Amino acid sequence: MKIIKVKNNQEAGIQAAQIILEKIHANPGCILGLATGSTPITTYQNLIQAYEHKQVSFKDVITFNLDEYKGLNPTNPQSYRFFMNNELFDHIDIKIENTHVPSGLHTQNPALYDQKIHKAGGIDLQLLGLGVNGHIGFNEPGTAFDSLTHVVDLDPSTIAVNARFFDSIDLVPTQAISMGLKTIMNAKQILLIATGTNKAEAIAHLINGEITPNWPCSILQQHPNVVIIIDEAAGSML
Ligand code: GLP
Repeated sequence: MKIIKVKNNQEAGIQAAQIILEKIHANPGCILGLATGSTPITTYQNLIQAYEHKQVSFKDVITFNLDEYKGLNPTNPQSYRFFMNNELFDHIDIKIENTHVPSGLHTQNPALYDQKIHKAGGIDLQLLGLGVNGHIGFNEPGTAFDSLTHVVDLDPSTIAVNARFFDSIDLVPTQAISMGLKTIMNAKQILLIATGTNKAEAIAHLINGEITPNWPCSILQQHPNVVIIIDEAAGSML
C-alpha cells in the first residue's frame, strides 16, 4: 500500500489526477472505475483542466461508476449519473455510451453490471472515496467480502451524512445499487482519496486495523496495488 500525504483536498485532486492521466497516457483505451461524493470533485476539475489544455483525450476511455441511489432517475440532480455528467463527462471528450453508472431504476439483476465490467476487460484503475463508517462504494459495515454488484440498505449514519445534498433527510433514498467488495477488489489498481478529520478513524482502520467486514475499507489491505492519498486531518489517527 502506497500512502501519499498532501496538505488538503486541492492537492489531493492534483495528485490523483496525475495518476489517472498517467494511466490514460499509457493506455488511451483504459477502463476507469469512478466515484462520486465531495472528495473526488477536485480530481475531476484537474482532469477537465488537462483536457482543456489538450494534455489528454478521453475519447477511447471507458468508465464504470461505483454506485447509484435506488429509485432516482438519471435526470434527478441528486442521482450519481447526474453528478458524473455535471462534474466530469459534460466537460471532456468522452463518449457518453462509454460511461456506465448502475441504474437506480432497473435492479432486477445487479450482477449483470459485473458481467459488463468483465466483458470490457476489467477495471484498470478504480478511484474510491471513503465513508465516515469505512464504506467504499456503498458497501456498508457487515457487507460480505465476496459481494458483487448488489442492492444495499443504506446505514442510518450514511443517510444522515449524505442528507446534506438533499432538501431534507426524508428525501435521501434508503437503498442504493453498489459494486460489491469483490467487484472493487477485482480492479487492477485502486486509488483512494480521503481528506478531513471525519475520515481519520476509517483511515486508521483501513491502514492499520484488523481486516474485518465491520470496517469494509480494511479489505484493501489484501489488494496488491493500492495508492492512498490523505491529508493531515485524515491521517491524524495513524
Ligand atoms: C458516498 C458514496 C461513496 C463516497 C462516500 C464519501 O456515500 N457512495 O462512494 O466515497 O460517500 O463521500 P464524500 O466524499 O462526500 O465524503
